Amino acid sequence: MSQKPSLLVTQRLPPAVEARAARDYIVHRWERPAVSLAQAAAGVDAVLCTPFDRLDGATVAALPASVAVLGTFSVGFDHIDMAAARARALPVVNTPGVLSAATAEFSFLLLLAAARRAGQGERQVRAGAWLGPSPATFLGIQVTGKSLGIFGMGRIGQALAVMARGFGMTVHYRNRNRLDPALEQGAVFHPDDESFLAASQFLVLCAPATAETRHWLNADRLAQLPAGAVVVNTARGALVDDAALIAALAGGHVAAAGLDVFSDEPRVPEGYLALETVVLTPHIASATHETRDAMGFLALDGIDAVLAGRVPDNIVR
Ligand code: 8YV
Repeated sequence: MSQKPSLLVTQRLPPAVEARAARDYIVHRWERPAVSLAQAAAGVDAVLCTPFDRLDGATVAALPASVAVLGTFSVGFDHIDMAAARARALPVVNTPGVLSAATAEFSFLLLLAAARRAGQGERQVRAGAWLGPSPATFLGIQVTGKSLGIFGMGRIGQALAVMARGFGMTVHYRNRNRLDPALEQGAVFHPDDESFLAASQFLVLCAPATAETRHWLNADRLAQLPAGAVVVNTARGALVDDAALIAALAGGHVAAAGLDVFSDEPRVPEGYLALETVVLTPHIASATHETRDAMGFLALDGIDAVLAGRVPDNIVR
């Protein structure tokens, strides 16, 4: 190719990723909401989107024929209508693996912060309302030695299990398939929700958003958690029935929650905002310098490969 290929980038990327994109591509920007994604993509060879972009069936179908590959700056691809992409033979590449450690460590941060009331304490200190240390205030739930239920034992779930073992936690998991014992490392597989939920003093959601996982954490399943359980979600908001979780938190059956993802970002349900027992963060579990660079490079590797006629490892199947 004598001229550089062109790439539409839907959001500002980390500086090193921007630099590489500008080195290898003629970079186009999406001036939203003035123009549609399809208009912004006119004539480009590739599009690099993020989970903040909703690529529904109509949007994918409307992409110009020039677009030969769609990359997403994420491991999740629930924001892309994959049936529509397949229908027009559009390869999609994502960023698996490189964000597992960052996402697992942030899940553990939320687990600790929710259990130990760190958000509530921080708010009190910042408000100038702290009256000094006292033996009977801010009592939280000790994490060390408790049981952790991981819903979705993929790469992120497995990285989280390694961290949990450092806290002497017993790890239980629910997954479509049982892992190889070498990967399981003593974690207990549960073939049904009932025994899994009953064993989960701490529950962390690590599964992708699919038709099967939508609102998986509903009132019925919340009721099956041990009283005083702590819930963490760094996967997708769609996995949780918000009204049910808010009710379980308000009633105290769920003692605390740490939430990084929401169904309709950046909107956060009022019910969570009103509860001191909920730690809320703005979808930043993968947001480290190292990881965000690695995600961008992997997405670009995949786009480069498809444009060069190869099938990259990070193609979504
Ligand atoms: C986002 C994510 O990519 O990987 C995913 O599925 O949701 C995140 O890592 C990130 O927030 C940038 O938009």
